[in-house]
Amino acid sequence: MAVRPESRTIPYAWYANPATLRTEQEHVFARSWQYVAHTGQLPESGSFVATRAVHVPVLVVRARDGGLRGLVNVCRHRGSLVCEGEGRRETLQCPYHAWTYDLDGSLRSAPRADREPGFDREAHSLLPVAVDTWGPFVFVNPDPDAAPLAEALGELPALLDAGGVDVETLRFHHRTGADYAANWKVCAENYLECYHCQVAHPGFSKVVDVSEDAYRLEENGLVASQYGPVKGARGGGAGSFDPSGAVERGQFHFLFPNTTVNVMPGHPNVSIGPVVPTGAETTHRFLDYFFAAGTPADWIEDLLAFDDQVGAEDRVLVERVQRGVGSGALEGGVLVASERLIAHFQRLLVDALAS
Ligand code: FES
Ligand code: FE
Repeated sequence: MAVRPESRTIPYAWYANPATLRTEQEHVFARSWQYVAHTGQLPESGSFVATRAVHVPVLVVRARDGGLRGLVNVCRHRGSLVCEGEGRRETLQCPYHAWTYDLDGSLRSAPRADREPGFDREAHSLLPVAVDTWGPFVFVNPDPDAAPLAEALGELPALLDAGGVDVETLRFHHRTGADYAANWKVCAENYLECYHCQVAHPGFSKVVDVSEDAYRLEENGLVASQYGPVKGARGGGAGSFDPSGAVERGQFHFLFPNTTVNVMPGHPNVSIGPVVPTGAETTHRFLDYFFAAGTPADWIEDLLAFDDQVGAEDRVLVERVQRGVGSGALEGGVLVASERLIAHFQRLLVDALAS
């Protein structure tokens, strides 16, 4: 069988090479919107969350005017992280030599600065990053001049609305996190196809129709979407997840380069989180779960058990792929029609790396 040129994958060397990751950081992650937090973590003036946009340490702060500020969380003196974790503060004081910044990042005081002739406080503010929200979801973009988040999201908010999920009414439930021995693109690409679902996710395939004709794929700008209608059966690891409810089909969206947005059928719900490279062959993922008020606790428990089962199955898959693609034994692979969204992802990646 001849291979259509567009069905070839990107080179496997890109899945194991630290230099590729550095290029991706500079050309992709330094200029992209990424989910980092939710507004429940930032309820009042002085609330902060220290996080990362992949390689860029980021501080999201609720400023005195009530708005959110995004700052590079690196002290302008000698580079210490200014804050860690999350909480509430009146000012942002660096623990190293006590340079103290206001909540908007401007340098307020530096010990012994009065003895430095010509010391220009205004030139030493924390650097800004772009921050923006979609309902309770907080995104940052290390590029302070980035186009608004809404432009990157495109139709995504409308797609959730149409699917029966009003994100404004959702309540944060909890965050889960996990580390994977796989390149971030292996994790992203595994998310972007359900060609493996029938084979590798028997529980999921009992609940969601993953057949080629029923399972829909769509790409639109930076967003790649998958829609799985409900089959009607209960399923999952515990065998008890019930997908019936106001939300009639699963929606699984991927905002390039690394944010996943999941809606399971049943009660209104969203899980959202980034795929974060932590090394050329390691990845961290977290997911924030949100549910509509009044969602039965046992339904949530069943859904989480169901998700855990799927997640455990995917871990085995991606780590096995990494051992293959990272081995150097092959130069690349091929994509079939059901992997159209991977081709879309790889096109966006190649374009970004070339820019
Ligand atoms: Fe922050 Fe010195 S590094 S005060
Ligand atoms: Fe999977």
